[in-house]
Amino acid sequence: MNARALAILALLVACACGRAVPAPAGERRLVVGFSQCNGAEPWRVLFDKELRAEAAKLGVELRYSDAQNDEEQQRAHVREFTAHEVDALLVSPKDAQTQTAAIEAAFDAKIPVFVLDRGIHSEKYTSYVGGDNRAIGRLAGEHAVELLKGKGDVVELWGIRTSTPAQDRHDGFREALAKAPGIRVVAEQEAAWFQDDARRLMLDLLDAHESIDLVYAHNDPMAVGAWLAAKEKGREKSIAFLGIDGNPGPEGGCQAVLDGRLAATFLYPTPGARALDLAVALLRDGKAPPKEVLLPTVAITAKNAGAYVAR
Ligand code: FRU
Repeated sequence: MNARALAILALLVACACGRAVPAPAGERRLVVGFSQCNGAEPWRVLFDKELRAEAAKLGVELRYSDAQNDEEQQRAHVREFTAHEVDALLVSPKDAQTQTAAIEAAFDAKIPVFVLDRGIHSEKYTSYVGGDNRAIGRLAGEHAVELLKGKGDVVELWGIRTSTPAQDRHDGFREALAKAPGIRVVAEQEAAWFQDDARRLMLDLLDAHESIDLVYAHNDPMAVGAWLAAKEKGREKSIAFLGIDGNPGPEGGCQAVLDGRLAATFLYPTPGARALDLAVALLRDGKAPPKEVLLPTVAITAKNAGAYVAR
């Protein structure tokens, strides 16, 4: 088979798999803006890496901005991308409360807007891509009920309360716990997604509560932070820790499960590459994306963590 035939075959295979394909030669390069709320958090480092790889593969110019967890900065980034009339905007908002208006304005300016991971309080966006946080919370709750055999004292560590993943992870968890009246949530605190905040809060909670059997944290960094606090107090062996994200690598949640620091984590796939595929399919082929794309999860325990740690 000659080179041209091979290229056509590769294109056909990619199309058949529903994946976006690189622009035909001579076509204008698409410019996609991406507003990341905080590029420093471990899960977002992976998110950025996967998105950048997809942009390179598709031949898209990705303009990246990191708001460093500052609401005002993120609004300014969204407004800049809107003013520059990027072909599409991807945005992973810090929270719904502070970012909704700026994102709505981009959509009103006729820019296709893809909201990633954290949702907004509006229907004014093109497509939402992210994990099914309610399902993840429910799965974590079912896991807690099983680990505790229906009885015990639980601490819940929240991500940012005004962000939709934290709200949905809470609601799903409580839905599952409602079926086990022997389980009490003795404390819930907002640790804003950060390991160190969780560690500090947990030190106080350990002093205040003699009986804690399980900690459910809305992400792995907070679960590990809580574990560190329990270790400082010599109580880490009598408490089970559950997190969410399931990052690979030596610092990720999968390794923490393998080491026995976490009892389980729940995979939260990064949404960037998928959203970029949808944006490119819309811009190049006029294919409208679904309003909501929920990415699947899986429970990662000691049984399967080895397979996820190296992915
Ligand atoms: C990173 C992060 C992840 C979490 C997601 C929820 O900022 O806290 O750990 O799964 O955001 O929006």
